[in-house]
Amino acid sequence: MYIDADTAPDSRNDQAIKLHGPEAFAGMRAAGKAAAQVLDMLVGEVKEGVTAERIDTLARDFVLDHGWIPACMGYRGYQHTTCISLNHVVCHGIPGPRAFRSGDIANIDVTVIVDGWHGDHSRMYGVGDVSRKARRLMDVTWESLQRGIAAVKPGATLGDIGHAIQSFVESQRCSVVRDFCGHGLGRVFHDNPNVVHFGKPGQGPELRPGMFFTIEPMVNLGKHAVSILPDGWTAVTRDRSLSAQFEHSIGVTEDGCEIFTLSPLGLDTPHTLSDPN
Ligand code: MF3
Ligand code: CO
Ligand code: CO
Repeated sequence: MYIDADTAPDSRNDQAIKLHGPEAFAGMRAAGKAAAQVLDMLVGEVKEGVTAERIDTLARDFVLDHGWIPACMGYRGYQHTTCISLNHVVCHGIPGPRAFRSGDIANIDVTVIVDGWHGDHSRMYGVGDVSRKARRLMDVTWESLQRGIAAVKPGATLGDIGHAIQSFVESQRCSVVRDFCGHGLGRVFHDNPNVVHFGKPGQGPELRPGMFFTIEPMVNLGKHAVSILPDGWTAVTRDRSLSAQFEHSIGVTEDGCEIFTLSPLGLDTPHTLSDPN
């Protein structure tokens, strides 16, 4: 079921998927760009000896200085602007006092609210000397997001997106996390539909112009199973293998999609950061 976002309540409404108009696209364009600017600003800040807490503070101050709102702050009790997920952390890592070390890989995920619209975006950052297998994992994850995005057009289905991601990831002998998914967003942070990163062609709801959602595959070098640590947030790979993730917020257009969270500086590819090569 699809509903006109202009007449729908600003909350999740059963199974309904909102279809947005041109003003909403403009709002998401601004919010997505803001999220990308936060992650661009952090390029060069993520390095050996710096703590994740410090990175989160830099992100928070940047967001507030621009008059934007950090969406995660206070969300279900979460107290930070970013999630910073290191090495075997799959997602929802809480920025803490541990300093980055050479060889670390970290996902930094930020959601910014601009004029009521949510821009949700994450990238991988490599610290110092990153191993070949970690770089390969980041490359596979980034490429899987590109393939998911390439599957987006009116008439395709959510299953087509999941299939594009899963088939590529598994062809590279990696695994797709099942326990977390992308999501509709707009004036609501986490809205319908759920965008799972695995699936079969033709299955699931059909994509229509005006749908907004994230695609945010989490890819593991080992098996796909995850555990949640006692803090109630941090998701880790059960086998402690490395995990990577990239996330874009997108809108379905008449002939494909618009990526709202593209980097104004072209920095949203893997391990561009602190990577001398
Ligand atoms: N940004 C995350 C996402 O991609 C959500 C983080 S919720 C938080 O959906 F509370 F952990 F910050
Ligand atoms: Co998201
Ligand atoms: Co996110």
